[in-house]
Amino acid sequence: MALHLLDHPLGRHYVTRLRDETTRPEAFRVYCHRLTGLLLAEATRELPTRRVRVHTPLEETEGEELSTDVVAVAVLRAGLGMLEAFTRQLPDVSIGYIGLERDEETAEARSYYCKLPPVENRPVFVVDPMLATGGSAVRAVERVRGAGATAIRFLCIVAAPEGVAAFEEAFPDIPVHAAALDRELDPRKFIRPGLGDFGDRLYGTQISDACINS
Ligand code: PRP
Ligand code: URA
Repeated sequence: MALHLLDHPLGRHYVTRLRDETTRPEAFRVYCHRLTGLLLAEATRELPTRRVRVHTPLEETEGEELSTDVVAVAVLRAGLGMLEAFTRQLPDVSIGYIGLERDEETAEARSYYCKLPPVENRPVFVVDPMLATGGSAVRAVERVRGAGATAIRFLCIVAAPEGVAAFEEAFPDIPVHAAALDRELDPRKFIRPGLGDFGDRLYGTQISDACINS
């Protein structure tokens, strides 16, 4: 597996805004969207194109257009925050969803939903902002591979070394694109320094989750 770390001042700026505990959900969603746009640009570098003729207002010339259908697969729920960049930049993208939730005690990912479009012979971008233990990413990619995908890339915003190692062991041939590689996991398997619970910060659910779980 090759880890592609985003190296761009805008990327570092957006990651810092996401880390900041005072960034509220509305702004958090905006920074997530912008950052995913940068990751997407890197991760789609090798998409195939074909030559086409195009008429400018002044003359006919040659251009290129994408020659493949693209699939994005979001890991629920936090991966939803990364989807808008795909639907805006690739309007014909097909979208799949995989529902995975970490058990708060064991940090093991439990699967609760899966709906995938056809993935055979198409580049598939699996998106989930946090690569912590790697359990969720590995399960998601297993599902996508099981459905027949062969050209897969995994996009996240923050990766922990433990998650990168687990993913690499499971899928040595699948590239990972991340905006930041953090220091470590803490005893609760949260990424440090990290940015907290991405889904909660995206959707402002800290309070209601506490209510639901009590
Ligand atoms: C978060 C995150 C990843 C997972 C990463 O989801 O979005 O899916 O944790 O952790 P891992 O690498 O240790 O598996 P969470 O389980 O909190 O669910 P949510 O997005 O619904 O809040
Ligand atoms: N999931 C998150 O949302 N944050 C972490 O730090 C780890 C897993």
